[in-house]
Amino acid sequence: MKVITMNTAAEIGAAAGSMFVQTVQNKENAVLGLATGATPLPTYDYMAQACARGEVSFKKVSTFNLDEYCDLPQSHKNSYFTFMSENLFSRIDVDMQNVHFLNGNAPDAEAESRRYAAEIEAAGGIDIQFLGIGRNGHIAFNEPSDKFTNDAFKVHLTESTIEANSIYFDDVPMPHYAMTMGIGSIMRAKKIVLVATGKSKAEAVRAMICGDIDPHCPASILKAHPDCTIFLDEDAASLL
Ligand code: GLP
Repeated sequence: MKVITMNTAAEIGAAAGSMFVQTVQNKENAVLGLATGATPLPTYDYMAQACARGEVSFKKVSTFNLDEYCDLPQSHKNSYFTFMSENLFSRIDVDMQNVHFLNGNAPDAEAESRRYAAEIEAAGGIDIQFLGIGRNGHIAFNEPSDKFTNDAFKVHLTESTIEANSIYFDDVPMPHYAMTMGIGSIMRAKKIVLVATGKSKAEAVRAMICGDIDPHCPASILKAHPDCTIFLDEDAASLL
């Protein structure tokens, strides 16, 4: 993995965003793996601004998001679909027919997992995958566990994740389950970009970069990926 430390989240957003823009400039029907959370926002700002300047068109791009809450309507203000619509899709010229999400309300999680894997494969596989990292080292919603996962699955979220994400929920309690892409689905992306900013990520970043590959820090698997770039700010890099 290539580790790059920068001064500000905006600089990182420009660097990570330009990797996505270049991917689409080189391949107009590129397949983008996208993430939610506060971390990707500067990257999405950069992509939206590049599109507004006419430097790139996302018209033929397909997107696959990493995860979605269960037991929450897709139209709810806290769904990851709404988050992506507000923070990226409404700001670029993507064709919403090419936007793919796991259905957190699918009655059969295993069938839903097979559907998503087949759609990713039919699109030609993910060309570039964005990742944030949870405070406990989770990527997407792959929580620390005894083994690495493969395809998408339904996960019971940990207390740490529920505590970190419940600040966004004010009208309904935060769901305790989500559908998430598995580690195998993430590792099959041709290129991976992980961004971590802020002190609260420093311990997870240390375990990811300095520790062994261990499913108790799911992000540590990225060391085995042939093309993975990690962008950190000084706070996130402070325990390296
Ligand atoms: C959630 C998402 C992850 C994200 C993480 C960190 O749990 N499922 O994909 O990386 O939060 O979020 P933030 O960037 O807000 O710290």
